[in-house]
Amino acid sequence: MTTMSSTSTSRDDTAPKERTGSPVALRDLRRRFATTTALDGFSLDLEPGEFVALLGPSGCGKTTALRVLAGFETPDEGSVWVDGADVTGVPAQRRDMGMVFQSYSLFPNLSAHDNVAFGLRLRRVSGAERRRRAGELLELVGLAEHRSKFPHQLSGGQQQRVALARALAIEPRVLLLDEPLSALDAKVRAELRDQIRFLQRRLSITTLFVTHDQEEALSMADRVAVMYNGRAEQIAAPAELYARPTTAFVAEFVGITSRIPVVRRDDHHVELLGAVVPVRGQLGAGTGNLEALVRPEDLAVRRSDEGPAVIVNRSFLGSMTRLEVAFGSTMIKVDVAHRTSEELPHLARVDFEVVAPDLLVSSAR
Ligand SMILES: Nc1ncnc2c1ncn2[C@@H]1O[C@H](COP(=O)(O)OP(=O)(O)O)[C@@H](O)[C@H]1O
Ligand SMILES: [Mg+2]
Repeated sequence: MTTMSSTSTSRDDTAPKERTGSPVALRDLRRRFATTTALDGFSLDLEPGEFVALLGPSGCGKTTALRVLAGFETPDEGSVWVDGADVTGVPAQRRDMGMVFQSYSLFPNLSAHDNVAFGLRLRRVSGAERRRRAGELLELVGLAEHRSKFPHQLSGGQQQRVALARALAIEPRVLLLDEPLSALDAKVRAELRDQIRFLQRRLSITTLFVTHDQEEALSMADRVAVMYNGRAEQIAAPAELYARPTTAFVAEFVGITSRIPVVRRDDHHVELLGAVVPVRGQLGAGTGNLEALVRPEDLAVRRSDEGPAVIVNRSFLGSMTRLEVAFGSTMIKVDVAHRTSEELPHLARVDFEVVAPDLLVSSAR
């Protein structure tokens, strides 16, 4: 059990970097609404100070999981642990969590400063201390000069920064963010993404960040939990998740994949495009048709007049060119460097080389 509490979180720049923050555990959560199962045995651990992104399509249960952690929703089964203590029955206002939502949800009749100070007033922090902390937080999010403005006088990005400052002002044990950037335009979104990550690291606050945007999840998080149908499909660091997805859902939800028919050789090998390649994990005993889920960088192509496939489309993507190659009725995406792409014009015949060390194989759809 860990005894770290939020009060040990340092806001002093000169303090030595230490791993603070509260450990969190969500254990086998279940939550049904009438006919819908929003959480179907969802488990997730957050290390002290860790930033975890909950990534998944709309309706997969992300918000419900976050609300159960916050205490706004009671699970039918399962438990919630913070700092080693079971808080499943503890009401939201006593869980010490800061929240930021997609809609800015600031108090419209309060200034930026008073919005940030609001939670401190509820906690009976003295006036002088409230002003000091609210001022410090507004400074931290770069809004010191906007302290007297009301929400309607602030841009969307500024309002979200006030919401972030308000969530952090109470020095919460856990920071919860539910699609906080989804309503913002691309440039502001990218800025705020960096700022959230910077503050989260600096304050070393355990953070759960909900998003349906894979780029956001992969670029910000220490680990990403991909959620599907109320369950965690895979929990891994971004690079691992991208390079070695363990389920077809993860492979196709995160990054680009082509499905290519393969022939089973044994429990651990399949034949793909004429090559025998190891399988990630193990093949089940099923007798149905199999497909490999292949990333654009898992294959290389060579020009070959007798090759079995034809380049039918080429897209310039800045750092490389993505080819779409027709192999019988299968369309395969392959990325190539620009210097080789000139030798690979539209309608050229090619053959393939498998460069991936192993392949994720799934039943054919
Ligand atoms: N209060 C509720 N009443 C009925 N159904 C709900 C309620 N909250 C969520 N749901 C349903 O539970 C499922 C998961 O919802 P949610 O957690 O909001 O998903 P996400 O945030 O991933 O989009 C959805 O099918 C949603 O319609
Ligand atoms: Mg949601």
